[in-house]
Order: sequence, then C-alpha cells, then structure tokens
Amino acid sequence: MRLFVIGSANIDLTFRVPSMPRPGVTEVCPYQLGFGGKGANQAVQAARLGAQVTFCGKVGDDSFGPAIVQQLRREGIATEFVSTAIGLNTGTAVILVDPTGQNSIVTHAGPNIHLTSDDVRHAASAIRNADLVLATLETPAEPLQEVLQIAKAAGVRTILNPAPPVDFSHELLKLIDLCLPNESELIALTGHPAGSIDEIRVAAKALQAKGPRRIIVTLGERGAFVLDELGDEWIKGMAVQAVDASGAGDSFAASFAVALGTGKDLREAVRWANSIAAISVTRAGTQESFPLGNSN
Ligand code: RIB
Repeated sequence: MRLFVIGSANIDLTFRVPSMPRPGVTEVCPYQLGFGGKGANQAVQAARLGAQVTFCGKVGDDSFGPAIVQQLRREGIATEFVSTAIGLNTGTAVILVDPTGQNSIVTHAGPNIHLTSDDVRHAASAIRNADLVLATLETPAEPLQEVLQIAKAAGVRTILNPAPPVDFSHELLKLIDLCLPNESELIALTGHPAGSIDEIRVAAKALQAKGPRRIIVTLGERGAFVLDELGDEWIKGMAVQAVDASGAGDSFAASFAVALGTGKDLREAVRWANSIAAISVTRAGTQESFPLGNSN
C-alpha cells in the first residue's frame, strides 16, 4: 500500500506535569525529547504498519533537521521530498502531559510553514503513484491544495485530518474524499456544537455538505462517528489506562488510511484504527508510542 503524506515534522519536548501549570508557577518534572509533528507522526505510524510511505515536508538547517530525516529513513520512509529551509530552526512542540494522559501542546512552526507549491510539484509523480494521500494542516494551504489537485486529477483518494484548523481554506474541502476531524475541529469547521452524538451527527452532515463525501469524527475514548453513503454510525472506542494521548489522533489517521488502502471497508478500518490508537495512548511520547503492525 503506497501512502503519500504531506505535513509537519517537529521535535517534541514532552514534560510530564503533576497538573497543568497555573500562571506564575514553576514545575519540576520528568522530560522526554522525541520526534513529532502531525505529518511525520502519521508517516511513521503508517510505515510501522507496513505501508510504503513517501513524506513531503520541510525541516530546518539546525542539528534537528538532519536528525529528523535520519529518523524517517530508519523507519523506511522515502524522504526525497523533505527539503531544508536555510537559516530556520526546525519546528518544535512543547507538550505538557498530566497524570490522566491529557496534553496541552504549543508549537513553533518554523520551516513547516515555508513548504511551497514548488516543493510539492517536484513530488507530482509520487502523488500520482500513491494509493492514498494523507494530509494535515500544520503546513500552508497552497502546497496542500496543489497536492490535492494533483491527486484528484490522477484519481488518487485523499484524506484530510484538519488539525489544527487555523486559517482554514474551505476550498480544500471540495478537493478531498474524506475528512477526519476530532470534535473541536468539527466545531471549528462548521460552527455547530459537537458534544452529544446527536450534535455530532448534525455537524458532520454540515461538513459533508461542504464537499467531502465521507466524514469520520474521532471522539477519543468514545471511539469515532462515521458518516458516509451507507448512513451514519457511532463506533465505540476501547477503554484503556491512558498514559499519554499525544499523537493518538495521528496514530488513528495513519492506521485508518493504511487499513482503507489495503482494502478494509470503512467501518472495519475505523475499528482497527481505534485499536491501534488505543495502544498508542497507553505509552509515553508521540512517535515512541506508535505500535508496529504485529502488535494487534
Ligand atoms: O499531534 C501531535 C503532534 O502535534 C506533536 O507531535 C507535535 O509536534 C504537534 O505537531
């Protein structure tokens, strides 16, 4: 299964805090440095599940840039479309994780927001040869639009995980087959509330009316809500002892894409992705927490 992933690559600085700090408070806590970024995370999770992954992104010319490229290569990911921004520090995320496993993330985008349409055009043949394209929103709208247009013209299916939905171009929704938001992203994209399953159904239909035929709303431990040509269904999640939810959405998106690309039907793919993401939540870190294909 050939997957083309466009998105961010970051260094993640994860701090395990006793509670989310209030203004003026200094906490002393354990710390972990790892590889992250929603795009790179999804590429790594998909590769660990056996997909042939090509990643398109941008890193800085500091010491972290080559370290990220090396890490992607170690995971078996094709990196010829990972470029380097001269004079910029690699994207960085500070992640605070509390004892319940919930997190707060702040990021410095760095080179991620310097990815251009030209960078993407170089990757046109890899996009056309993919079975699926998977995209997130930590890179600018223009190169993303370019990828989606190349994919659409070639009949390649596209999945957008609209995270984070900042400065979102609604034009993108017309180019994608499937949109994969969480509850807060669904609210941001539609302006509808998305607390109860009934509210999520209404909001998902409003999102579907903007373009994508299929919508999957990830609901954390509640599972996922599916809306497609067969109707809608709430697929329950798995209760696990959460250690760190960082990257769980990326783990879900990637495993769902791999399952769909290898022929599972949509609901089966959601169940499988639920189980893979649940494993990731039981482990610390982002990419460090992603399981291999033989774990389930
Ligand atoms: O989804 C988790 C990711 O968001 C982290 O790895 C961090 O780098 C941010 O991009």
